[in-house]
Amino acid sequence: MNKSAAVARSLPDLWNDFLAEVTPRGRIFPTGTPQRMVMEMAADSTAKRREIHPTCVPENLIGVAAVEELQQQADAAHGDSIEFNSHRVSDAPDAAVSYLASPGVLEWCQSTISGRTLKMGRMIFIYYGPGEMSRLHFDTAEDFEFNLLVCLRRVRSDVQKSTRTYFVDGARKVTTYDLAAGQAVWFNGRWTPHGRTPLGEGEQVVLASLGFTSH
Ligand SMILES: [Fe+2]
Repeated sequence: MNKSAAVARSLPDLWNDFLAEVTPRGRIFPTGTPQRMVMEMAADSTAKRREIHPTCVPENLIGVAAVEELQQQADAAHGDSIEFNSHRVSDAPDAAVSYLASPGVLEWCQSTISGRTLKMGRMIFIYYGPGEMSRLHFDTAEDFEFNLLVCLRRVRSDVQKSTRTYFVDGARKVTTYDLAAGQAVWFNGRWTPHGRTPLGEGEQVVLASLGFTSH
């Protein structure tokens, strides 16, 4: 191979290739298994770069009216969604961004970061139906160094165990969330491995993801 043609890849990029093989079905492996050790190694090897630990956004910071409006915008954009990492995503229109990126929400996000200034990137909608999930990964897209993940719709099933978003924060530190509509989690997506376990029959999840960079 011509050395000059080689492109240096980031640590999150390299981990993503490996994690896709190790956690192909999105499940959280039990402590002590080789797969769990790999998941924790991914988290430990990136811990120094992690600016914040996954944090729930204060209740009521994102208003009910904004969530309802975003639900409608997400439904309207569903037809244009594409498959990505075993679920579907679509770009959110600019009009939708304004419903989430209120001064209160932006100020709260900034208050969690010391010494760096956030800059809003872009927003996408994320859709999960039965059998869909998200393999453990780091967010490597340029606009998603930080990620505000807001639940817009959560349909649960009486017969299936509920799906969860999860974050691996290091050895024996896996945090799971089953967000209801209007609840949100804020995290350093570039440096925190995260995923979603598969949905069962009758389950549905729709999320809005607002990305940020920092300088
Ligand atoms: Fe992600």
